[in-house]
Amino acid sequence: MDKVDDKGENVNELLEAHTHVWNHMFSFLRSMSLKCAIDLGIPEIIQNHGNPITVPELVAVLPTLNPAKACHISRLMRILVHSGFFAHRKLDNDAQQVGYVLTNASRLLLKNNPLSVTPFLKVILDPIFMKPSQLMGTWFQNDDPTPFVTANGQTMYGHCGLDPSVNSLFNEGMASDARLITSLLMDKCKGAFEGLESLVDVGGGTGTLAKAIAHAFPHLDCTVLDLPHVVHGLQGTHNLKYVGGNMFESVPAADAVILKWIFHNWNDEECVTILKRCKEAISKVGGRGKVIIVDMVVMDEEKVNDENSKTFETQLFMDIHMMAMLTGRERREQDWAKLFSAAAFTNYKIVPILGLRSLIEVYP
Ligand SMILES: C[S@@+](CC[C@H](N)C(=O)[O-])C[C@H]1O[C@@H](n2cnc3c(N)ncnc32)[C@H](O)[C@@H]1O
Repeated sequence: MDKVDDKGENVNELLEAHTHVWNHMFSFLRSMSLKCAIDLGIPEIIQNHGNPITVPELVAVLPTLNPAKACHISRLMRILVHSGFFAHRKLDNDAQQVGYVLTNASRLLLKNNPLSVTPFLKVILDPIFMKPSQLMGTWFQNDDPTPFVTANGQTMYGHCGLDPSVNSLFNEGMASDARLITSLLMDKCKGAFEGLESLVDVGGGTGTLAKAIAHAFPHLDCTVLDLPHVVHGLQGTHNLKYVGGNMFESVPAADAVILKWIFHNWNDEECVTILKRCKEAISKVGGRGKVIIVDMVVMDEEKVNDENSKTFETQLFMDIHMMAMLTGRERREQDWAKLFSAAAFTNYKIVPILGLRSLIEVYP
């Protein structure tokens, strides 16, 4: 009785496949439910409440909630408990009742957490940055360089340069990621900067990473190079300056160049050009030169197991995100090695201690 048709398809297998398709079809609602909770300020409300918060308590303090929609809040909370953003906890004064508490994941979304991921989430889930992924199929069949161009009529960085609100949204998203990575770098990789006298952060955005390095190493002369509309009006310090320019044309001379989240934006040819400009910059100064990269090294598929498959899947998501936004990609170690050798670097070292990303030191 478990045969569906003459081809002998098993009912259980059919239903499992059906669930698999539906799960993927609807999985954008995980992101959208999370965005909704952030838009409503639910993580902050739970934090401020102190104790587990019940649905009636949550509904009562949601500042802008239309009372007619209050009955739907528990549905939003149910999926976010399922996704690990909130958890149930018994109330201290009434063990019969449960309320919601934060988890490690939602604590990382609190706006007052110095390492908050929320500004980056707001970039990724903004309609300007989401529309390109809707049009990937169209892009595969047209001549546009990226789905972002298909969706928005111009390149991603061109768009940021023309629309100040998108520029601020993007730069704040990048700065929030830089705060997280900076804290890890200063904790685990400070040695990479020891002995240097000068450093350029290429594509350093509004300078979050360079400011922290300049602060930790007061005798290190730091420069942030980024596009003119990004560094316009930013104030340096005694050992930090901002330079507006184009990394494809030239990079200021320094002992070392750091590039965080730059190469994954660009195709191989563009990356080799940037690497060559970096090599010129470090060869103008002493003999200490190196290039320091913070970017992903995509795991080998053969090494994926139950424990690390979420990391691998997240790296694949980022790769497709890059395909939708820019000409870039996420690279495996062998892809990185080819780039370094094409730009005439002789050696590199990968330090995989930044979670999804790694620190890569490249030597001339
Ligand atoms: C993905 S963001 C990374 C920002 C920063 N490094 C970080 O990780 O927070 C890439 C940066 O490259 C900058 N950029 C893009 N094209 C550039 C160019 N031709 N020359 C210099 N910077 C550029 C962008 O403005 C942006 O700040």
